[in-house]
Amino acid sequence: MDRLLVALDVDTADAARQMADQLRGVVGGFKIGSRLFTSHGPRFVEELVGRGDRVFLDLKYHDIPNTVAGAVAAATRLGVWMVDVHAAGGATMMRAARAAADEEAAKLSRQPPLIVAITMLTSLNEAALDEIGFASSIEVQVERLAALAQSAGLDGVVASPQEIGIIRSRCGSRFTIVTPGIRGSDDAMGDQSRTMTAGDALSKGSSYLVVGRPIIAAENPRAAAERIAAECQGTTAA
Ligand code: C5P
Repeated sequence: MDRLLVALDVDTADAARQMADQLRGVVGGFKIGSRLFTSHGPRFVEELVGRGDRVFLDLKYHDIPNTVAGAVAAATRLGVWMVDVHAAGGATMMRAARAAADEEAAKLSRQPPLIVAITMLTSLNEAALDEIGFASSIEVQVERLAALAQSAGLDGVVASPQEIGIIRSRCGSRFTIVTPGIRGSDDAMGDQSRTMTAGDALSKGSSYLVVGRPIIAAENPRAAAERIAAECQGTTAA
């Protein structure tokens, strides 16, 4: 299932390799986030890329434009398929990320990675937003950041499936929407707040689903991935 991406949120390269080996063929790619990257760094990314896996490097860059541009250029050299930055880093930062990926990819004669912007973390609820001083509602903030990311030339955003409708109507059908926060009715929420089932997220128009614990913490991760993939098959965007 091409549109199902699995978060390899584990501590060791061995555990991640084992998980990827079990899931290859069932899922459409692997997400490497700060946990695994901090322990095992770029070498493990290169290992998966070398095997032909699609890798979403989820390091959520959020820094001054020059620093983010350098990091995105480095991610492009690693050959990742998708990389993300925080939309809250601003339009100049996002444009710098876009330019760096395009220039680096041109030098290497390869396709640039998709660059998507984090809107609001799916673990945040309205109370948490209030706490950090955001005056507007989650919906208003997500729509604003998605439009900003699009105008800065990014390919899409990462958002909760609950915000797909708002983003689609503002940014159009070709904009990539990556949705973590996927939970079935029997799954533990963990730290997630704004969740939806895989089938519902796809039918609302998600481009890619990111699923972590419901697959990697399952007794049988491959069977769990197959169940979610089956739920997704035949689901078409509304
Ligand atoms: O285990 P779970 O399915 O909650 O994993 C979701 C993954 O997506 C985690 O790796 C998390 O870091 C990531 N993510 C998220 N919300 C965002 C962006 C990324 O949950 N807004």
